[in-house]
Amino acid sequence: MDAGLGGNAYPAHPTTANARLIRGIARALCAIAVDTIVGVPLTRIEIRPEIASDIDDIREINVEAFRNHLISRQTEHLIVDALRDNGALEVSLVAVTDGRTVGHIAFSKVGVGDSESDWYLLGPVSVEPDMQGQGVGSALVQFGLEELRTRHASGCVLVGDPGYYSRFGFSTFPDLSYEGVPHEYVLGLSFSAAISPCGLIVANKAFDIEPD
Ligand SMILES: CC(C)(COP(=O)(O)OP(=O)(O)OC[C@H]1O[C@@H](n2cnc3c(N)ncnc32)[C@H](O)[C@@H]1OP(=O)(O)O)[C@@H](O)C(=O)NCCC(=O)NCCS
Repeated sequence: MDAGLGGNAYPAHPTTANARLIRGIARALCAIAVDTIVGVPLTRIEIRPEIASDIDDIREINVEAFRNHLISRQTEHLIVDALRDNGALEVSLVAVTDGRTVGHIAFSKVGVGDSESDWYLLGPVSVEPDMQGQGVGSALVQFGLEELRTRHASGCVLVGDPGYYSRFGFSTFPDLSYEGVPHEYVLGLSFSAAISPCGLIVANKAFDIEPD
């Protein structure tokens, strides 16, 4: 299993979907820029869609964030690249502070059981080690979920630590599974009370990528 499941990157060049997201983000930008407490003073963080010149930074952030991660195969940067190459990176957001790109999150479409609903997979999400614990990851997750709601998605699933993702509303579901992953780490969040994620999650083939 990869620690940072999920992701579908923006095409590096403008597409209809990308333009739609950029418009949506521009509308919401004031609400999205967040001040986080880093002791004192406050650090201003901007969340925005990936652009072509972010790609090297995104790769580097994923390498650094997952370098010592216990359950990572250190393939997250390759996964994001493969999603982008596959045209499967649906939402790819970066966090920028003081002109420096310090975080990234990817969302890709995913199969959930035999559901024909529109589910997304969150991941990988990564924050530069020296910027962790300051709200950057939370801002990326919350803004990404808001973007999925704007797209009228059914919801989002992921493989990750419930200790972190439960704060965003993610939880386990009795019949939600991911091959080879213990049930407690397979989490879902439905945007509608009428739908629960149920069945086997089938991610984009980018997640099968082998280490270099
Ligand atoms: C996980 C990650 C994206 C969170 O981003 P962040 O900016 O550090 O997180 P935030 O500042 O928004 O939130 C901090 C909180 O998350 C908790 N947290 C961070 N990583 C966690 C983890 N792996 N498991 C459980 N809790 C975690 C912190 O303990 C802190 O909790 P508190 O608010 O109760 O004090 C970041 O730490 C990271 O890049 N880690 C390495 C890569 C990784 O593990 N990615 C996720 C794979 S599923």
